[in-house]
Amino acid sequence: MSQHKEIKKITTHTLQAMKARGEKIAVLTAYDFSMATVLDHAGLDMILVGDSAANVMAGYETTLPITLDHMIYHAQSVVRAVNRAFVLVDLPFGSYQGNPKMALNSAIRIMKESGGHGVKLEGGAEIIDAVKLIISAGIPVMGHLGLMPQSINKFGSYALRAKDEKEAKKLMDDALLLEECGCFALLLEKIPATLAKEVSENLNIPTIGIGAGKYCDGQVLVIHDMLGLNKGFKPRFLRQYADLYQAIEEAAKTYITDVKTNDFPNEAEQY
Ligand code: KIV
Repeated sequence: MSQHKEIKKITTHTLQAMKARGEKIAVLTAYDFSMATVLDHAGLDMILVGDSAANVMAGYETTLPITLDHMIYHAQSVVRAVNRAFVLVDLPFGSYQGNPKMALNSAIRIMKESGGHGVKLEGGAEIIDAVKLIISAGIPVMGHLGLMPQSINKFGSYALRAKDEKEAKKLMDDALLLEECGCFALLLEKIPATLAKEVSENLNIPTIGIGAGKYCDGQVLVIHDMLGLNKGFKPRFLRQYADLYQAIEEAAKTYITDVKTNDFPNEAEQY
């Protein structure tokens, strides 16, 4: 008999069952093979191949420039590393807005070419036809409401969203609509904790929060932010779990010294 223990993969059903039994869902972003290997091994429930790759991997100010081809490249690298976690991939700006057929084609390309397990789109009623069409093709969709970075030019800033009653009501209506249309989960970004609580209590599908407080069914952070690689980025919602910027800088400085003083490589490190 094989000693090999079969790994139970996380599916949309697993995630929904976690909400039903009150178990929180842990999500982080990843964009490459090495990081995704570590995160999957650590036992993360979901890895988001976020379009935040535009910021932390490519150095753009916004998420707008990243393309569908770039997202597929990142998602392929993550999928190759993952044995257990659910891999969710962002549809980038310009690949779905205003055109449900284009949205479906974009989602199909992600699923076919990367092997990811589902896609995420930003928006509510405005993109609902795209959401419905993608779901009708058997592709799991996560909604994304609150602060939507792809609409930064409309919002004008990355400040807290849905503070006033009108925007909070629209967010709740959009959340219910996305659930009704078959989304398997909903990401809530940078909204008041009380609103996120209300949304989470009113939905059967899990909510995943970032800057949306403790009452969401799960949490997500951008990996570079929580590892302290994004120097100087310290919003209130971010808990930093390591200071890799400093660790890497110190390692690089030591290496430079070792090379310049002819300490590296030594006898044991050569052939
Ligand atoms: O692209 C991203 O990283 C996101 C965050 C909200 C987690 O969507």
